[in-house]
Amino acid sequence: MTGGQVTLTALLPEHAADAARLHILGQPGTFLTSLGPEVLTVLYRMLPASAHAFGFAAVDPQRPAALLGFVSATTSTGALFAELGTRRIRAFLPPLVRRFARNPALAGRAAQTALYPFMHGAPGDDGPSPAELLSIMVEPAQRGRGIGALLVAALQAECRRRAIAALDVTVDAANAGAQRFYGTHGFTFVRTFTLYGREMCLYRARLD
Ligand SMILES: CC(C)(COP(=O)(O)OP(=O)(O)OC[C@H]1O[C@@H](n2cnc3c(N)ncnc32)[C@H](O)[C@@H]1OP(=O)(O)O)[C@@H](O)C(=O)NCCC(=O)NCCS
Repeated sequence: MTGGQVTLTALLPEHAADAARLHILGQPGTFLTSLGPEVLTVLYRMLPASAHAFGFAAVDPQRPAALLGFVSATTSTGALFAELGTRRIRAFLPPLVRRFARNPALAGRAAQTALYPFMHGAPGDDGPSPAELLSIMVEPAQRGRGIGALLVAALQAECRRRAIAALDVTVDAANAGAQRFYGTHGFTFVRTFTLYGREMCLYRARLD
């Protein structure tokens, strides 16, 4: 770890607006980013409140309200999507409807998102389902100093604590930097699939 101090805490609902901002900076041109800061802020407020999700925030201890980076994950993508699409839908609908009104093409891509939990299993999956890393983002000016490594190590330790045997992550095939990052943190390539017309790679880290 180089540079200033970094502390890890649980990812909390109060980090939501900053997490949305880092998501947009870290994933330009992707579907979730195209939903805009309002929808993403609702998503990142919901995730830490869900029993199916958890995450870690990297903060400067002198300025704990500002995120240097974060990682989020779910113990069950299917259960999380079901919760967001039912019990939590009232929070999402107003900003989603405003976004779709401005860009109707996004509605079709949102429908594809509902199918995502069925798209990313690995061949031969039969045991307990793996957890899934949903997003990891580090403030652009802070990249390359080990914050991502701290976040992924904390996530893997938490998965082991919960007796989760494997952690999956889906990464855009064009995101070579992130694939290199996952490769150095125990993830191996499983297969590719298509989402929103883009090639995606599924990586898996075995934790047992
Ligand atoms: C991927 C990411 C989280 C890594 O965080 P980080 O704090 O820079 O990671 P570390 O300092 O622990 O490790 C650096 C490694 O990350 C990778 N990396 C990917 N993009 C990078 C970038 N823009 N700058 C520096 N490293 C990057 C490299 O493999 C680098 O290893 P190297 O020095 O051997 O090349 C961060 O670069 C990021 O936020 N990227 C944009 C968002 C993204 O693509 N997230 C993953 C998909 S959900």
